[in-house]
Amino acid sequence: MSLHQALTIILNMFKLYLPAMVANATPVFLKQGTPLDTGAKFIDGKRILGDGKTFEGFAIGLFFGTYTGIVESIILQNTAFLILGLVASIGALFGDILGSFIKRRLGLKRGEPAPILDQLDFIYGASLALYVAKAPLTLEIFIVAQIVALILHIVTNRLAFLLKLKPVPW
Ligand code: CTP
Ligand code: MG
Repeated sequence: MSLHQALTIILNMFKLYLPAMVANATPVFLKQGTPLDTGAKFIDGKRILGDGKTFEGFAIGLFFGTYTGIVESIILQNTAFLILGLVASIGALFGDILGSFIKRRLGLKRGEPAPILDQLDFIYGASLALYVAKAPLTLEIFIVAQIVALILHIVTNRLAFLLKLKPVPW
């Protein structure tokens, strides 16, 4: 594989996954909101999703993720990104919700780390949604999306630490 081919895969990955990344990242700035599970517990006596998944967070992620798709469709002169941005954002948000559902079933509290699941749940949700929507998603792009999501997680957490937004660098 040439450098040009590698860069093309990375660029195509960002075109497809940027709305999902924005949809996943923007709810973090929310101070508090109404939990999606409205405080309800699952049959195991633990919260269905927990306080980290809110209606407001979902709305914020959906708005900014879809907005990102709109900007892409204008810049790239391709209306396909209008629907793909919306689809990827919804997929990312539901993937993140499924991730929290799994964490609660494993007995992990809201915000407790679940390596890999925390960083990739939204990627899997977005990928499934993009696949169903017949987006030009390849295995290479799917793999690069996971690698970049893991790297971005480390980089953004270090940045948030340096900017004193987080007490720890991980
Ligand atoms: N958030 C939200 N609504 C969503 C998704 C995220 O309000 N649908 C906000 C919450 O404030 C959450 C923050 O974004 O705390 C970061 O999201 P995430 O890391 O996914 O949640 P955690 O707090 O780590 O909770 P969990 O253990 O369930 O992953
Ligand atoms: Mg988390």
